[in-house]
Amino acid sequence: MVSNQIKETVEYLKSVGFGQADFGLILGSGLGDLANEIENPVVADYADIPNFPSSKVAGHAGKLVYGDLAGKKVIAMQGRFHYYEGHSMQTVTLPVRVMKSFGADSLIVTNAAGGINFGPGTLMLINDHINYTFDNPLIGENLDEFGPRFPDMSEAYNKNYREIAQKVAADNGIKTEEGVYMGFSGPTYETPAEIRFAKTIGADAVGMSTVPEVIVANHSGMKVLGISAITNHAAGQQAELNHAEVVEVTTRIKADFQELVKSILAAL
Ligand code: 6GU
Repeated sequence: MVSNQIKETVEYLKSVGFGQADFGLILGSGLGDLANEIENPVVADYADIPNFPSSKVAGHAGKLVYGDLAGKKVIAMQGRFHYYEGHSMQTVTLPVRVMKSFGADSLIVTNAAGGINFGPGTLMLINDHINYTFDNPLIGENLDEFGPRFPDMSEAYNKNYREIAQKVAADNGIKTEEGVYMGFSGPTYETPAEIRFAKTIGADAVGMSTVPEVIVANHSGMKVLGISAITNHAAGQQAELNHAEVVEVTTRIKADFQELVKSILAAL
């Protein structure tokens, strides 16, 4: 079933001009503008792609863009699918399988996240994650053509990529931190007690995405670089949270973010 869906989606994208890719790029809330800088773009609306749901969250464009960015062939998601929208984990991660099918051996995944140990405006390179979604995209029949039944997750975020990202950031005068991303299902933000728990078990930032895609990328042996744009303090550390504020802070750190991703792509 899932296997046939992937093939159908890939065939459609080939028919509109998608081809061999080096990198998959998932652009989170408010970070999708980077896809507009892709040269020789082939653009597919999610609404036109077989098996893709159409994304409707504010700040998400809902387009898959193929082309050249910083000298690399990329397939970029401008807006992602979230588990809290009611999509299955398989649907949320279908684009990663599609990227891999086009040859992408690397994935750069980005998100807007709440900071526990870092404040708003921080760019955090993800060095590990905690899957707290109570689900897993690999539950069910294993897709042997992609990877093993019991995938290793001991270096889910490639160490070499992280080191290169840190160096590139420093060279460009962009400040970065490193930390653990804890993925919740959402759509509620966490309670103060949940944030105390998250902090206790070692989370530096919290969010509602990324974990499913990174699991599926690791399953198929893709090397992952993850970047969280910290848009607000997690619950209990500021008055209250709202989506508009998340979008506003993202807009402020977008320039650094875009510069960082392009420089990293050029360096990798
Ligand atoms: Cl505080 N929590 C979650 N789960 N996601 C977020 C967030 C917080 N801030 C931005 N995204």
